[in-house]
Amino acid sequence: MANARENHREDVAGRANVEDTPELLAYYDQLERLEAGALWTVANKIEPWQPKSSSVPVLWRYQDLREHVLRSVDLVTAEKAGRRVIYLNNPGRRDVAAAVGWLYSGLQVMHPGEVASAHAHSASALRFIMEGSGAYTIVDGHKMTLGANDFVLTPNGTWHEHGVASDGTPCIWQDGLDIPLVNALEANFYAVHPDLQQAVGHPVDDVTGTWGHPGLRPAAGDWAKGYSPLLKYEWGPTYEALQRYGKVTDGSAFDGILMNYVNPATGGPVMQTIGASMQLLRAGEHTKAHRHTGSFIYQVAKGRGHSIINGKRFDWRERDIFCLPAWAWHEHANASDSEDACLFTFNDLPVMRSLGLYREEAFGEADGQQPVSA
Ligand SMILES: [Fe+2]
Ligand SMILES: [Fe+2]
Repeated sequence: MANARENHREDVAGRANVEDTPELLAYYDQLERLEAGALWTVANKIEPWQPKSSSVPVLWRYQDLREHVLRSVDLVTAEKAGRRVIYLNNPGRRDVAAAVGWLYSGLQVMHPGEVASAHAHSASALRFIMEGSGAYTIVDGHKMTLGANDFVLTPNGTWHEHGVASDGTPCIWQDGLDIPLVNALEANFYAVHPDLQQAVGHPVDDVTGTWGHPGLRPAAGDWAKGYSPLLKYEWGPTYEALQRYGKVTDGSAFDGILMNYVNPATGGPVMQTIGASMQLLRAGEHTKAHRHTGSFIYQVAKGRGHSIINGKRFDWRERDIFCLPAWAWHEHANASDSEDACLFTFNDLPVMRSLGLYREEAFGEADGQQPVSA
């Protein structure tokens, strides 16, 4: 019986292995003219033994991108550009403007006093605030004020707009969306609000006042929509929660102290297609390697260190962004022996899990860490 290693060969019994003959090539031509084809010519490609991501791991250094993001303010107006965003373009995914897999990411800049027009789309979106003060987002009439390392949702179908208060400072944030996924599913709608701006219909920051209390929910807090009613997750309580959890757990060998942002009404992911987490790597921590399905975008919220992805080392510092393709080996290390480091991530795990596609595997070597090739 063939063992597992032999099964990874492309020509084992049960896998397509048909040699071309003049007669077969003519036959393939005839099928092609009928918009058809012989499965055995593509079967090994479309049914790989394991996931083969076309994305490559990439680190986007904030110190390289920041000046270009700011320069867009001089080059295009907010009105003409719609949104002033520099998107992150994975070399393997240029055809769909994805940062990794089916996830989009971009860096958006807004100046004090600027307001974007309200709109809605089927793609789910989030933003993670990188710098500046005075930023706000309005989602379905709920206005939220935003500071550095805050994370805010603009879910599928909601009216939303962003701006920066006139007494604020230039703001840059990361936009994360599932645009490539929703376009691949051919399900994306986009609409501009009929009034261009929406009215604020609730007290400012009512979402955190209502839903942002650990272990408590309002007695009258009914919520049946497919996304979290909390909408905004502030850095302060998130970091405090990680520190407190870190005092009472050994954490995960693969992720250190990892906590998921959740929908407080269900305990499930923040949105139907996008999940998000914050993880804390303790001083000197170097995790073991593992791999899993799902694509991830990491943003460094605090500290510095490195990650090894499929044997390649990526050194990161605060505000850098890097991506993890599906089924790629990965491990993380905090460079400091005295300070913790925090990594924000968003991912398509809700899609993987709800479709029954999540798989995970630990790296098999003795110390659980990868040899580094570059
Ligand atoms: Fe949007
Ligand atoms: Fe992981």
